[in-house]
Amino acid sequence: MDKNHLISVYGRYPVTLSHGQGAEVWDENGKHYWDFLAGIGVNSLGYHHERIVSAFAKAQSLLHTSNLFWHNPGIELSNKMAELTGGYLSLWVNSGTEANEAGIKLMRRYGKSVGRSAILSLTNGFHGRTMGSLSATFVPRYQEPFAPLVPDFYEVEAGNISALKEAIDRFHPCGVMMEPIQGEGGVVPLPRGYLSQAWKMATDAGCLVLIDEVQTGIGRTGEWFGFQAEHIEPDIITVAKGLGGGMPIGGMLAKEEVSRHFLPGDHGSTFGGNPLASHVALEVLDWLETEGLVHIGKMATVMENTLRSLQHEFPDLVAGYRGRGLMWGVLLKIPASPVATEALQRGLIVNAPKPDVIRLLPPLIINEEAVDAFFNIMRQVLQFFQEQREGA
Ligand SMILES: Cc1ncc(COP(=O)(O)O)c(C=O)c1O
Repeated sequence: MDKNHLISVYGRYPVTLSHGQGAEVWDENGKHYWDFLAGIGVNSLGYHHERIVSAFAKAQSLLHTSNLFWHNPGIELSNKMAELTGGYLSLWVNSGTEANEAGIKLMRRYGKSVGRSAILSLTNGFHGRTMGSLSATFVPRYQEPFAPLVPDFYEVEAGNISALKEAIDRFHPCGVMMEPIQGEGGVVPLPRGYLSQAWKMATDAGCLVLIDEVQTGIGRTGEWFGFQAEHIEPDIITVAKGLGGGMPIGGMLAKEEVSRHFLPGDHGSTFGGNPLASHVALEVLDWLETEGLVHIGKMATVMENTLRSLQHEFPDLVAGYRGRGLMWGVLLKIPASPVATEALQRGLIVNAPKPDVIRLLPPLIINEEAVDAFFNIMRQVLQFFQEQREGA
């Protein structure tokens, strides 16, 4: 097959995946992989899960309606989200960046009512690649080629509460955006207590708080949302990735009084929250509620113990690990990218979001057999680099 007709914005591995089951996936040559990346935190129920298959079957006769009409799976999904969040209203889109775009527009719409327009976001954060989300993503190599960006976005040092205070006093923002754990930034949790202090400070200053849960939300960190570790009430929560278990869906969830700043016609999406995506998302939420969250809690401990063992066995290569639930970063003392490539060759999918970090976002359904397989392959990989180092 000629692969040269795709616009080349991705650095792809030379592997063509063909089918999967659970946490396992095969390529077109029949080679087997344990998937500890899950389509970058998307395939929450793994591959070919019976719930997702049944959601596809349920949606068969009404895949899409447009948002000019009501449909029951969409109503049910928003009701379920309201139940899980204590009353937030939802607006459905198709991806993480679109969820953030909707949130940015809602913050600006609120800003109009109070004469403000500035939006703050944190150093090392990631909110997506469309122009609004990109303007909140202060990574020069992502931003510079596309300048000028959307005006009135400002970077604030992550984890530094006095820097936030200064920025609020200086820019009088209408909103601030934060990830509880910076996923693309290398799985970096915000320092304990920062989120609650930041939320209180921003709220007292009349600034809306948007928590980007695109990567951390929907069970990934062991709770419905990553911010729940800190007892805050964000004005806006954005979700995507794992919510659809592979179906593209994103959501902007807002407190009712905040959501009222959007008026009919202010935003929209042709596909957003269509019946197919809604059916699948309902299955993911039901799995989490009935068994998933408990399961993730157990597997989080298994993962953490496994990472501890790896660090213990390879102290010259592994500097540490961070994260929670089923979202982990392994900090290496050697370049991470060759480690990810070697793992792939040995049948394990992980990635390296930063030069010294291996990221693990396995399907939330992983079991001990999968973690054992991960451990065995990572040991072989680290052994290989250890020997190379000793030979050098
Ligand atoms: C925290 C966060 N926000 C937003 C996005 C963008 O999501 P998408 O790629 O679905 O547009 C990502 C993607 O990695 C993310 O991790």
